[in-house]
Amino acid sequence: MPTEDQVTEALRAVVDPELHKDIVELGMVREIVFHDDGHVHVTVSLTTPGCPIRSHFEQGVAKAVSALDGVSRVSTDFDVLSADEKEGLKQKLGRGNLPAGALAQVGNVICVGSGKGGVGKSTIATNLAAALWAEGKSVACLDADVWGYSIPRMLGIHGKPKISDQRKIMPLIAHGGIRAISIEFFLEEQDQAITWRGPMLHKAIRQFLEDVDWGELDYLLIDLPPGTGAVSMTLAQLLPQSQFLMVTTPQPAAQKVAKRAADTAKRYDLSICGVIENMSPFTAPDGQRHAIFGEGGGQELADELDVPLLGKVPLQEELRVAADEGQPLVLRDPDDPAAQAISHAARGLIAATPETVPILQAPPEPVVTGTPLPMAP
Ligand SMILES: Nc1ncnc2c1ncn2[C@@H]1O[C@H](COP(=O)(O)OP(=O)(O)O)[C@@H](O)[C@H]1O
Ligand SMILES: [Mg+2]
Repeated sequence: MPTEDQVTEALRAVVDPELHKDIVELGMVREIVFHDDGHVHVTVSLTTPGCPIRSHFEQGVAKAVSALDGVSRVSTDFDVLSADEKEGLKQKLGRGNLPAGALAQVGNVICVGSGKGGVGKSTIATNLAAALWAEGKSVACLDADVWGYSIPRMLGIHGKPKISDQRKIMPLIAHGGIRAISIEFFLEEQDQAITWRGPMLHKAIRQFLEDVDWGELDYLLIDLPPGTGAVSMTLAQLLPQSQFLMVTTPQPAAQKVAKRAADTAKRYDLSICGVIENMSPFTAPDGQRHAIFGEGGGQELADELDVPLLGKVPLQEELRVAADEGQPLVLRDPDDPAAQAISHAARGLIAATPETVPILQAPPEPVVTGTPLPMAP
């Protein structure tokens, strides 16, 4: 019979098809049991109970172990990694090509993209962040639109980030809880012109992902520049597990451009979690309905991509004014129809992205007031 070490060594040939690492390195071999008739039993721990790749592991284990001398039979069963073990695995894996640990405490990375500029990506990204925050989620906005950065203006936050004792960049915090990082925070003077070349751009974005202490986050929203240029590719290389949220206006032309962008995103392994239609028809105070940018493009795009249409955000002056004044409309006037539409989209996004960060801290203790002072007579 082989030794346990020999079986373990053989099991290194079994590679998790999604994580691209072997099950020994991933810590997924729970137990190896030897029975006296040359029968070896292996228990493999999966990340989720309904893991569809069970048979892949079963065949891989059988093939690897049965090749060893003295083995007459191989059997496999499965259990599930505990929450702690999964956390350890996440730390070990890091994110994409980032070093281990970077963004490990981020539940969902959502890239907000569109085919072209001016469709309201940044408006949606900031308001969506505010809506997720209002729903009790921890959120951050990363402004990856390094040419047309607008997150600072729309969140009403400007300044220089502090560096922590661990030599990490601390995001600025808008409206009491929305973390944000933008290239603007690092410019020497406002409106300084920057010309980015590919490698520099790659480095800047990489640094935002690696060197910023994002902390525990349910959602990191990345406001992409228009189109599917170098930035999207850079991000895709760094963050293969991130998801893409497409913003489009209702007219057919915009929706076609958005479709092309979505196709590119798919090619770079970014999955698409939904579509938001912006600048949708609105009803004027006199009750008349106006469809300035046409109708139905969001639904068509969503159908074509086979993803949910998370919301239709009407064209609304208040949304623009609030953004210009640094206050997401979702926070300033939650009852406004545009704010409502974005909050609705946020709830849809929460439903579509169930993975959240494990809460490591216990909830705060209720405030205990001291013994009441004796009442004055
Ligand atoms: N639904 C909307 N109603 C009214 N104005 C909007 C709406 N969405 C965006 N805007 C305005 O349109 C302009 C472009 O939006 P922005 O979010 O900067 O687009 P992008 O980031 O796609 O370039 C901004 O002035 C913004 O305030
Ligand atoms: Mg923008």
